[in-house]
Amino acid sequence: MKLLTIVGARPQFIKAAAVSAKISDLGAVGRASIEEVIVHTGQHYDAGMSEIFFRELGIPSARHNLAVGSGSHAVQTAAMLEGLEKVMVEESPGMALVYGDTNSTLSGALAASKLHIPVAHVEAGMRSFNRNMPEEINRIVADHLASLNLCPSLTSMDNLAREGLEGTSVLTGDIMYDCALKFAKLAEKLQDPLSKFSLHSGRYALMTCHRAENTDNCMRISQIVSAANELSQKLDVVFPIHPRTGKMLESFSLSLAPGVKTLPPLGYLDMLLLEKHAAVILTDSGGVQKEAFFFSVPCITMRDETEWVETVQLGFNVLVGADGGKILSAVEDLNANPPHLPDEKPYGNGDAADKIISALCGFRP
Ligand code: UD1
Ligand code: UDP
Repeated sequence: MKLLTIVGARPQFIKAAAVSAKISDLGAVGRASIEEVIVHTGQHYDAGMSEIFFRELGIPSARHNLAVGSGSHAVQTAAMLEGLEKVMVEESPGMALVYGDTNSTLSGALAASKLHIPVAHVEAGMRSFNRNMPEEINRIVADHLASLNLCPSLTSMDNLAREGLEGTSVLTGDIMYDCALKFAKLAEKLQDPLSKFSLHSGRYALMTCHRAENTDNCMRISQIVSAANELSQKLDVVFPIHPRTGKMLESFSLSLAPGVKTLPPLGYLDMLLLEKHAAVILTDSGGVQKEAFFFSVPCITMRDETEWVETVQLGFNVLVGADGGKILSAVEDLNANPPHLPDEKPYGNGDAADKIISALCGFRP
């Protein structure tokens, strides 16, 4: 079967790395039942947001790069749709594979469905129940267009069942767990970000922030910056900055204190090790919340809700919105009462890639 994989944004490169490697392994043992063709929409294009992931994680090169770049939602999505339709007609795949909830996901699912190409959606069924998030719209549409919804957790299976999609759902576990396990091992061999950035294990906070609801709202981003500045008086704060955030900090004239170590976006291998050794993680990223959980590092999520509800239920994640006071008191609380390691494994066993590939191979339209 020819499988057209559509990726475009940083977390999708990471997720696709684990699945693509398994597809290549099938070929290596003579079971070449999937021919994968990768399309990069070009949503993320800076070397540190794109090329580094292909290089470090050994992702096969994209056969097609649509180079759509940045733009408003409509402009970006329309350019992707136009480019993807041409590629799909040319490649005539048996199936299209999309990941997560970005505009690249939406476009891939929509372009394929209109051409009657069945869609498989990895990380299906996640819901924040907040339709002001562009990601919520993207994932609802992708789930409803997909013939195969590959779900990371029981919660996501339940969400789809409530929307009448149980017939399309398969529980695979979370592909990001596979990625964290696989690439943390590689990272330990190849990278030493603690020495590189003069940090000590367990003695710094790692922060990321890129969600539009935070970066584009002056009040929210100001609160987050103030909290980081205040926290840096007690603890090193390391802050790899997403390009969206860098631009918004500049446009709101916000500056970070010298104790906040700002860095360009990091490669995944450095990032995993910085997460693993952090005392605490502050983030609004979906992926980073889960990686904190995988490494048993307490996480403070600077959002009003999360899709990854198990991380909160099991005590490793606290939702604080963008309230500076709540961010700082959550750090104190977690320090005073560190969470206990949970027995449950809500995101599976780290074998999601195998289950995804079995589901793809077993799919009959
Ligand atoms: C996108 C996804 C979000 C995901 C995130 C992962 C959507 C709607 N959002 O958000 O769900 O969590 O990716 O990181 O799809 N920019 C650069 N260089 C780049 C890429 C972006 O400078 O390589 C800047 C541009 O100014 C751009 C802005 O970042 O306008 C936002 O990029 P965009 O891809 O639209 O959304 P993200 O915030 O990255
Ligand atoms: N990540 C990375 N470098 C960074 C910040 C994040 O490699 O500087 C990784 C992170 O470890 C996780 C993924 O990118 O695997 C999350 O992507 P992001 O936060 O951009 O998007 P989200 O998961 O919120 O959609």
